[in-house]
Amino acid sequence: MLKRIAVLASGGGSNLAALHDYLRDGAPPEIVLVASDQPRAGALERARSWDIAAVTLSDRGSDASQIERLLQEHAVELIVLAGYLRHVPRSVVAAYRGRIINIHPALLPSFGGAGMYGRRVHAAVIEHGARVSGATVHFVDEEYDRGPIIAQWPVPVLYDDTPEALAARVLHVEHLLLPRAVHAVARGSVHLDDEGRLVCPVSREASVASAFTLHSESDDTIAEAIDRLFLDA
Ligand code: GRF
Repeated sequence: MLKRIAVLASGGGSNLAALHDYLRDGAPPEIVLVASDQPRAGALERARSWDIAAVTLSDRGSDASQIERLLQEHAVELIVLAGYLRHVPRSVVAAYRGRIINIHPALLPSFGGAGMYGRRVHAAVIEHGARVSGATVHFVDEEYDRGPIIAQWPVPVLYDDTPEALAARVLHVEHLLLPRAVHAVARGSVHLDDEGRLVCPVSREASVASAFTLHSESDDTIAEAIDRLFLDA
């Protein structure tokens, strides 16, 4: 079990909060550090309210030595990027390969990559006439939004969607998907093999196919379906 989690976030931290809520039963894993490139990020305020170490990263997150020192001081075993807009230094990605996770508010590899974040993602989905969007959790590698996909969950794009309406629908699914994906990686149920290939115990097609019939169901029903993505071997 990877027990000590660091969360990097640039914004309000609603994904951080969803993860904190999911993990708050006190059992491992736990969030031991929250860091942001933004001094006034809501994510840092949330961390302080939970008495979790909250650190502003210097040089807008490009100071690799500071990040490496923070991760070592807090004995971090797993890094979660929860709305983190900066490029993670290559030395950190290399040191945490297979132990650094990102959530993206679209179905990668579509609508991802440098510059694709926030409202822009959802505006592009709508502009291209996509009928399906969703959330993607993936392992981080040296390029934005490119590492092995851990899990995805779709949401419908409605004909009169604004970027804001779609963003809210996707964010809701992010809050259900990210914590369960993080826990699956933390307990080793999902991991990368020595060649960097994803190892995951179950075929997930069937579960995701149920997503659309569940779209209007309760969060508990959707959460149970997402849990089935990560059944242990
Ligand atoms: C989320 O939409 C996430 O997918 C993206 O940035 C947003 C962060 O929102 N990477 P929050 O700060 O977690 O509320």
